[in-house]
Amino acid sequence: VAALERHDEQPTVVVTGGTGGIGRAVAQALAERGYRVLIVGRSDANGSDVVATLERTAPGRRHRFVRADLSLLGDTAQAADQILDCTDRVDALVLCAGVLSRVAEPTSEQLERTFVLNYLSRYLLIRRLLPQLKQAVSGRVVLVANAGKYRDTLDMNDLQLRNGGRGLWISGRTQFANDLLAVDLSERLSSTRVEVTCVYPGLVATEVFGNARGLPRAMRVAAGFVQRLVGSTPEVAAQMPLFLAGDAAAVGAGGKFFGPGLRPLRIPGRAQRPDRRAALWAASDELVRPWLAEQARQFER
Ligand SMILES: NC(=O)c1ccc[n+]([C@@H]2O[C@H](COP(=O)([O-])OP(=O)(O)OC[C@H]3O[C@@H](n4cnc5c(N)ncnc54)[C@H](OP(=O)(O)O)[C@@H]3O)[C@@H](O)[C@H]2O)c1
Repeated sequence: VAALERHDEQPTVVVTGGTGGIGRAVAQALAERGYRVLIVGRSDANGSDVVATLERTAPGRRHRFVRADLSLLGDTAQAADQILDCTDRVDALVLCAGVLSRVAEPTSEQLERTFVLNYLSRYLLIRRLLPQLKQAVSGRVVLVANAGKYRDTLDMNDLQLRNGGRGLWISGRTQFANDLLAVDLSERLSSTRVEVTCVYPGLVATEVFGNARGLPRAMRVAAGFVQRLVGSTPEVAAQMPLFLAGDAAAVGAGGKFFGPGLRPLRIPGRAQRPDRRAALWAASDELVRPWLAEQARQFER
């Protein structure tokens, strides 16, 4: 059945967090551009709703919802399997799923929840889908994060925060991990056609504060109010990932950071440090190893 469902002549994009917020708007915009869109998220109801909308926008492209809790590597690996069951073509991977968190929380896999959701599941999905991205004429990976905004608060000896912790650095460190990944992966893939970019969408009126973990109610309400007052809409914010994932004019953008309106952002020196990049890569490689097939364990440049 899986083989019959393949539509490999169709340009295909995977969007995580495609069930809501910026990711949903990106999925919609990509469908309008003619892409087959596979969205990954947790909510079945939102997933079905988005797929129905995509089908109305661009019928007959077999858009799909892949359910996964991306704070779990097991679920993330299953999502990759499901994606590869329904296509062997992946032109772009737009990684939007994420959470704002002020609390360290262990998952059932004994890993830190925000670290996995905002960073490590992205690393694993990239590793799993890289063979398909490399086959694309112009493969793209777009990390929707906070491009260059956060300090280096990653403790490589305690990535899972065994002793707990509180504060905005809990998610801040995962955003910095995205910065390191963007720079490092881009360099590792420099001899391929795959280009990696990292974006900061600015303040966007989504559910990000409503969904935040460990944020006092008053702060949640106040931040949500400001966000709606001065933030851009998800549709406006989606234009940047849309361009970087799907536009021929974005060739050559690999390795760069972008802010609202596609403004190029300076890549801070801390995100370029070879020792920090290498340490995070090695730790991530080790952590996802059980979820990689034998032949994919060796990263090939
Ligand atoms: N909004 C902003 O102002 C802003 C600013 C800077 C950076 N960002 C970044 O932009 C990205 C998108 O944020 P947003 O504003 O669109 O947030 P949002 O409205 O809260 O949407 C988050 C998305 O992530 C998915 N998600 C959350 N937890 C998940 C899990 N455990 N497993 C699978 N999917 C999960 C949600 O899907 P389900 O509902 O299906 O779980 C939803 O589709 C985030 O990475 C965020 O850090 C946003």
